[in-house]
Amino acid sequence: MALERTFSIIKPDATRRNLTGKVISMLEEGGLRVVAQKRVKLDQAKAEGFYAVHKERPFFNDLCAFMTSGPVIVQVLEGENAVARNREIMGATNPADADEGTIRKTLAESIEANSVHGSDSLENAAIEIAFFFNNDEIVG
Ligand code: CMP
Repeated sequence: MALERTFSIIKPDATRRNLTGKVISMLEEGGLRVVAQKRVKLDQAKAEGFYAVHKERPFFNDLCAFMTSGPVIVQVLEGENAVARNREIMGATNPADADEGTIRKTLAESIEANSVHGSDSLENAAIEIAFFFNNDEIVG
């Protein structure tokens, strides 16, 4: 087992419904530790930059509009196999496909308003963490 860090976003649908604490509890109960966290409002450039890998996808404009529609919580999570563990705790991208007990099955509204984002690989976790955090903001 490897101690890893992954990047997480609590999305605008969750902050709008005052579910920040509920999501954090589910992450912590799943064995992850919040080692950095801030509440921010993404602007268009930041959202487009973060999701640049999806820019050719048909949902890109809607995704950026949604992600700038309200505050988000950006986080660094630490734990054993944190990248994979976080993806288990989140559940499938589409809440209709997510397992019982996952964040998305329990809380998400739709494939777009799916409450959380989590890095899909250790390599992308490092890139995404650096997109939002300086090293001195991460306290493990
Ligand atoms: P996320 O993990 O933040 O990465 C990209 C996001 O695009 C994804 O979660 C979904 O919320 C969103 N999205 C919207 N529509 C789709 C779609 N049809 N397929 C995949 N992702 C989608």
